[in-house]
Amino acid sequence: MGHAIAYVFASVGHQVSVFEPEKEARDTLIERILRISESLETKDFEIQNILVSDSLEKSLSDCDLVIEAIPEKLELKKDIFDQCIKFAPKHSILATNTSGLPITLIAEDTKEPNRIVGTHFWNPPHLVPLVEVIESPYSDRNNIKIIMDLMRSAGKVPVHVEKDVPGFIGNRLQHALKREAIALVEQGICDAETVDLVVKEGFGQRLAVMGPLENSDLVGLNLTLDIHEFLLKELDNSAKPQELLRNKVNDGKLGMSTGEGFRKWTKSESLAAHERLVRHLTNIAKRRIKKGS
Ligand SMILES: NC(=O)c1ccc[n+]([C@@H]2O[C@H](COP(=O)([O-])OP(=O)(O)OC[C@H]3O[C@@H](n4cnc5c(N)ncnc54)[C@H](O)[C@@H]3O)[C@@H](O)[C@H]2O)c1
Repeated sequence: MGHAIAYVFASVGHQVSVFEPEKEARDTLIERILRISESLETKDFEIQNILVSDSLEKSLSDCDLVIEAIPEKLELKKDIFDQCIKFAPKHSILATNTSGLPITLIAEDTKEPNRIVGTHFWNPPHLVPLVEVIESPYSDRNNIKIIMDLMRSAGKVPVHVEKDVPGFIGNRLQHALKREAIALVEQGICDAETVDLVVKEGFGQRLAVMGPLENSDLVGLNLTLDIHEFLLKELDNSAKPQELLRNKVNDGKLGMSTGEGFRKWTKSESLAAHERLVRHLTNIAKRRIKKGS
């Protein structure tokens, strides 16, 4: 996530300084960023806008914004923000790219929790426009506005998450859908391939241009209410991960990486699925860049 976030800002002319403690990741960073630029065929991209360092203090010495994208471990995040507060200029805003840890928990024991906000980029950050900007009860409201404006100027689509709830907005929606998808398979209503086909060939076709609430307005809220009256009580409302998921994980069926998850995957099928996704997102991103230039 970190190298692609660096690309996002460098591609619009910001000076970006990346702190990377691991040698291999540090040595390949510039090459990985250049690959992004090539795939998007960006003109005028200045790789010199990006400096890579093995010193956090040096990286933070002259910055207005810090975006943390280290592993999803609360103690690591707390520690790095303590160091950011120590080394980064006083005026700088400190942001975490956590996928789901509460910003409040990351910020609360630090000396300056008001400087910390959430900036949840979606993977891959250079292709997916959305960034959820999360306000914690400690966050300085003015920082939220500054971050939202900055994200827009970097071609992102920021949304303000006004309360620091687990999963923010996107992951709550995504995992509500996944819970029902797993329940359908677990209850023998259909297999995993059928669930995916229904989404991809059905309502998924509309989702990129019409959100679920816009769609409710389109079909009429009275219809939505009528459906909810009989359907909601039928939907899965498990408060814990389902047995089907737990058993697969316990059996080492983790998905593409192990050759089987909800379905079986050969290496070439996994590769093809990954390439299909990247090609699709890259084509959309290229059209967006072309339109904006
Ligand atoms: N991968 C995703 O799909 C995704 C999506 C959205 C948000 N996120 C979030 O972004 C963050 C990073 O995720 P990722 O998938 O890029 O992880 P990753 O493991 O691929 O990368 C983490 C990087 O942090 C470096 N690192 C490790 N410890 C460090 C430390 N103490 N200080 C500084 N750098 C350190 C590592 O060398 C590595 O380069 C996590 O919080 C994750 O939840 C990930």
